[in-house]
This record gives sequence, structure tokens and C-alpha cells, in this order.
Amino acid sequence: MSKSKDILNVGVLGLGTVGGGVVSALQSSPELFESRSGKHIKVVAACVRNPNKNRSAIAMNFPITSNPFDIVEDPKIDLVLELIGGVEPARRLVLTALNNGKNVVTANKALLAVHGEEIFRLAAEKNCFVGYEAAVAGGIPIIKVIREGLVANKITKLHGIINGTCNYILTGMEKHQSAFDDILIEAQQKGFAEEDPSFDIGGIDAAHKLTILASLLFKIPLELDKISVVGIADVELEDINYAKKLGYKIKHLAVAEKSENGVELRVGPALVPETDMLSKVDEEMNAIRLEGNLLGPLLMSGAGAGAGPTASSVLSDIVDSIRNSKLEWASVITNNSDNEPSSDLVITAEQTIASAFYYRLVASNEPGMLASITNILAANNISIEAVIQDEEGKKADRVPILIVTEKIKQRQADATRLALSEMPGIFSPVKQFRVK
Ligand code: HSE
Repeated sequence: MSKSKDILNVGVLGLGTVGGGVVSALQSSPELFESRSGKHIKVVAACVRNPNKNRSAIAMNFPITSNPFDIVEDPKIDLVLELIGGVEPARRLVLTALNNGKNVVTANKALLAVHGEEIFRLAAEKNCFVGYEAAVAGGIPIIKVIREGLVANKITKLHGIINGTCNYILTGMEKHQSAFDDILIEAQQKGFAEEDPSFDIGGIDAAHKLTILASLLFKIPLELDKISVVGIADVELEDINYAKKLGYKIKHLAVAEKSENGVELRVGPALVPETDMLSKVDEEMNAIRLEGNLLGPLLMSGAGAGAGPTASSVLSDIVDSIRNSKLEWASVITNNSDNEPSSDLVITAEQTIASAFYYRLVASNEPGMLASITNILAANNISIEAVIQDEEGKKADRVPILIVTEKIKQRQADATRLALSEMPGIFSPVKQFRVK
């Protein structure tokens, strides 16, 4: 620990976009952070992969190392900023820092979603602070809102757009009437999508974030594998355009919803009514809507990634660590009376909360097709809310058909999709998305 009680010595692991943003903000207004936290926040060392890289946005007035253990084992460092991402070696470094009595601030959702239990238990044992505001929805201070601002509420529902890459791609497809792959390339060129975007477009990144949120909201253990995960690769421009005709926008939604059976956790594309504010959150923006029993609905929207927004959250955690606002990692808002988090609360696919579903299929244009399709829905006990045969989209002897159902269970929806896919006269895969 630093010898001076007026200085917080910070060691930084990673000086990429986020690390650079944090150091640059600290260097540009040190007095602001000092007056707000009561301490001079001083970067005393950083670990980078390539020490020779040009980092013109920051003054490199601190030692650089390429060995991260120089940081987590340095006795003069009070707080370690873990901004390298990934699971290993981040896990080992965070555990070592905590074992050495250092506070930790991290933006690493993948690490917390998988190893959070181990990390938070060690932090509690060592009486250390672990801040992770930047791990969920970048600059939106959702962790603090849940833990502090909404402490009086029972939260029953969360809907979020918490992956900026997916949102950027879906918005871009509609705006430019382009195919998925073209917008993905543009997003990568503009820096809104990683070189390897598989975690983003596959829904894993959103699932990491939802794991953390659900744990806080419902006192569920941090268990990524309890989440039903669907990415956006299945969404085609036709779906976006048909959804629009039906009065919806397709968004990649993270949902945590409590029912009498337990908590349902899922991420995936969904048709959101155009009258719903979430449908208006476009481009790379994130948004989270919660429903509290006292407050009612709350919607927060802001940047979910980028140097400034993520640094904003990281720095608020650093200031919190100084203020010693040591809140337990597990939920302080709990809807159950147990003290230990319980995974029994997470419900299975069988018990999922019912919702309307959208189907798109291409059928042979012949008498009786529509009747056969609706018979399959009837056989699965599904009532139809809307059905459209798109005459304009007719090609040769094939016609697109859109169906929106009344509320049904996931099991019914999956059985229907399978039966429709196997029906004679149905071409190409049958698309199926939830309707919010
Ligand atoms: N890759 C994330 C996104 C940002 O696209 O939202 C960091 O969590």
C-alpha cells in the first residue's frame, strides 16, 4: 500500500483503447479527480504487450513493463486496473492482486461471467474492492443504479440492448438496405466491431453482461451457461424490412425476467414494437430498461463502448474505491430471502415466459398452402395474430409468408418451426424470432 494516505497508486494492465482513455482523462484533469475523491490518483506503472508502440495521446511519465506480475506484485501499488480482457492471464493476475491486498477495477465481463464467484469471494476474504462498472454497457452506470439508486425496489424485468456491435449492424442493415456481411465489414472499418467479432455477433458478449446483471438483480450465481444465447447471424435484410411493415424493429435484446417459476435469462434477436423506446436506440448505442416495484420503468441509454465512455465507468470505480464504498458483490436487491445465491431460480426452456413469435417462410404458391401452414400452427395450439402473404415478394412459383403468433411458449415455437420446415412446399430455412 502507498505510504502516503493522500495518493492512490494505480498500476494499469493494458494501455489499449480503454487503458489509454483512463490515463488520458487522469492526466488531463488531475485536480478534478483529486477534489472528487480526496486523493491524488497517480498512475505509477503500466504493463503493455508492446512497449515501443507510439502512445501519443498520453504522457508516458511512468515506468512500462511487459511483465504483468511486476504490477500485481508491486508493494507500492494500491489499485490494479485490469484492462487486458480475456480469461487468462487476466484471472490469475486479478487473483494475485487480491491476494496481495490490492483493490481491482476491471472492465472484463468475460472474466467475471465465468470466474466472478472465485474473484468476489477472494475479494471479500481479503477485504478488497472489485469494481466492474465498465464491464456492463460501457459508460452507462447501470451497476451503481442497481446497487444504490434502486436499492428500495424489487426488480422484476430487465430488457437491454447491451451489445453495440449487434445494434450497429442491425441499424446499418436497415438504414443502408445492406446485407449483414457488408455492414459487418463497415463496422470493423469504423472500429465498432472487433477483428474477430464472433463473441459480439454470436451473442456471447451480451450473455457475459447479462450474467453479471442477473446476478446482481436476482442473486443468481454468475453462471454463463444458464443463459439461452442466440446471435444475430440469422437476421436477414428481409426480416428487418418485414418487421418494419408489421410495425417493429429487430433488436438484439438481453432479457432477465422473473415469473412465478423463477428467472428467465436469454439474449437474442427480437421484434420490438416501434412504439417502444428501445426500438429507437440505434447505431452503436446501448440501453437498459428496468422495472422496479416502487419506481416503475426506468430507461437508461448511452455509449456502450469506446475510450471516453468506458473510462468514465472505470474512473467512477476508482473514485468509489477511495470513498471505500465497499458493497458486496452479490445482490443487495434480492427478491428471495436466502443469503446464498441460488441457481435453482433460473428456469429451464420448458418453463419460459410466453411471448409472441414471428415466422418467415417461403412457400410454394399453390392452393391449400396457407391452410396447411395454419393447420400446423393450430396443431401446436397456436393462435395467429397476423399473417401476410407478400404478393410483391413473389418470385416464380414461390411466395414469402409472414406470421406473428399470439403468446406461446418456446417449446411450442420450436416444435412449430420444425414442423413448418419439414412441410412439403416450404423452401429455405424457416425464420423464427421472438416478439417483445
Ligand atoms: N464489444 C462490445 C460491444 C463492447 O460491441 O458492445 C465492449 O463490451
